[in-house]
Amino acid sequence: MEIKNVTVAGAGVLGSQIAFQTAFKGFNVTVWVRSDASIKRAKPKFAGLAQTYVDALEAMKTDLAAYCRGLAASDASAEELDALKAKAHKALASIRFTTSYEEAARDADLVIEAIAEDPAQKTAFYTELAAHLPERAIVVTNSSTLLPSMFAEATGRPEKYLALHFANQIWKNNTAEVMGHAGTSQEAFDAVVDFAAAIGMVPLPLHKEQPGYILNSMLVPFLNSAQALYATGVAEPEVIDKTWMLATGAPMGPFRILDIVGLTTAYNIVAMNPQANDPESVPGKIAALLKEKIDAGKTGIAAGEGFYSYQ
Ligand SMILES: NC(=O)c1ccc[n+]([C@@H]2O[C@H](COP(=O)([O-])OP(=O)(O)OC[C@H]3O[C@@H](n4cnc5c(N)ncnc54)[C@H](O)[C@@H]3O)[C@@H](O)[C@H]2O)c1
Repeated sequence: MEIKNVTVAGAGVLGSQIAFQTAFKGFNVTVWVRSDASIKRAKPKFAGLAQTYVDALEAMKTDLAAYCRGLAASDASAEELDALKAKAHKALASIRFTTSYEEAARDADLVIEAIAEDPAQKTAFYTELAAHLPERAIVVTNSSTLLPSMFAEATGRPEKYLALHFANQIWKNNTAEVMGHAGTSQEAFDAVVDFAAAIGMVPLPLHKEQPGYILNSMLVPFLNSAQALYATGVAEPEVIDKTWMLATGAPMGPFRILDIVGLTTAYNIVAMNPQANDPESVPGKIAALLKEKIDAGKTGIAAGEGFYSYQ
């Protein structure tokens, strides 16, 4: 099926990025949020994204390291990059905002749900949306930790419901993990794979449901192992990072990655482990060291300091 009209629900960190990237690639985009106050808050965010795209496209003219995979071909000429800058301005002007379920659903070929990571709130959203959606519409969730099978029935169209999971800063980090539940139709899955490619992402299909998808299934244990080495006194973060980088050729090590992810998120992940309540356990030691840093305001790159200082 052809996807042309896309509704994005939620205008937070990821919702705004997904909506802007989709409009930038020429789709008709409607953003659904809960209140007029949310629309007011969202608009400057979208203007900021447009500026980020324009700046990135300009930098790509002269700086190879500035290349953003989701924006243009790697060999785009200066003229092509200028044309894309104009497209970013056009995208900003084209996005429609609404608080009405009816308006959000009426013409939608695809709805991308990017509201808060709360099962009750997501279920309530899907249930209300289902009453207004046209038969053809596909619904996807960007949820990082919840599985599509949890919500398939609430959408009223289980065969047309699946996950499409983006990474933060989607214009650069253009992965799109595509994951159905057991009842997702092949047709809906394929349409979402094609859509992801059409908005400049690299579609990464999963054959079945997997908590954490592909990336976090690898990344979370990797970061946990690194934190365990530090928390149990085996080695310092700098030494652990250096080992990883020198031995594998990776551009950064686990503690640099933790600074980017943010130590609060890392803490929330380890705190979910019941063992973290025991201060003598490894998860308990990791939680304690993260908490000490967070309490000192050292929550990562965004705060100017985490495991490393960025002053
Ligand atoms: N932040 C990331 O790096 C990241 C990466 C991949 C996926 N995700 C996923 O994307 C989704 C959104 O995450 P985010 O980081 O953009 O969150 P966020 O907190 O920045 O934004 C959440 C949005 O949902 C809205 N919202 C909150 N409660 C709502 C409700 N009851 N009904 C409707 N809207 C509601 C908020 O107003 C906001 O617009 C989550 O499912 C998350 O797992 C986030």
